[in-house]
Amino acid sequence: MDSIKVAKKELRDTMKRLLYQMKDEDRHFQSLKVQNHLVNSKIYQKARTISTFLSLPHEINTYSILENIFLSNKTCMIPFIYEKRLHMVQLNSMEEYEALSRDRFGIKSFEVNEALQKITAFNHFIDLVLVPGLAFDTSKHRLGYGMGYYDRFLGQKKDITTTSQILVALCFDSQIIENVPTESHDVKLDHIITPNGFI
Ligand SMILES: Nc1ncnc2c1ncn2[C@@H]1O[C@H](COP(=O)(O)OP(=O)(O)O)[C@@H](O)[C@H]1O
Ligand SMILES: [Mg+2]
Repeated sequence: MDSIKVAKKELRDTMKRLLYQMKDEDRHFQSLKVQNHLVNSKIYQKARTISTFLSLPHEINTYSILENIFLSNKTCMIPFIYEKRLHMVQLNSMEEYEALSRDRFGIKSFEVNEALQKITAFNHFIDLVLVPGLAFDTSKHRLGYGMGYYDRFLGQKKDITTTSQILVALCFDSQIIENVPTESHDVKLDHIITPNGFI
């Protein structure tokens, strides 16, 4: 394995340890701040269609963002992994969200049959993509969980559209580090939101 891949792997392990150790209270208050920065931003308010990751306990909580998307009458898309690729499928309501079962990672997700119907019906342009990740830097580089799902999804999107799709990561203070190791396929973010605001 080349040195960048090794550095990424080591950083993932370090960040996971750090995130798993965070106190629920700390996660809660930092999540609230990040959610507020997002929903009060022009980028969010202008976006008609938003895709959001559905958070695991060690990530910025996206539940109230989901609620806000529906309250604001925006179109909501959520991730679905099929044949090792990330797709976005439309979620229609909080009721539909509550009814979702969890996939093998513990993330709420559509059943395959249901999602496949929705993927073929997919024709929305996503204005704003909210992405998860383990570590970020002020140059807006992102370290994901090591599957490259978002790099491939966003790379493909960038090829087929000339309009501006905005990529925003949500993270805790501790996830901003000096320098994220990157490779040429790594897609740069447009913004990162921490409890202190936008980067
Ligand atoms: N655009 C791409 N084209 C081809 N392969 C890719 C692409 N993006 C990612 N990959 C593959 O996914 C693997 C994991 O990517 P990496 O950026 O390390 O993960 P993550 O972004 O989840 O942290 C890479 O080693 C590479 O093989
Ligand atoms: Mg990557």
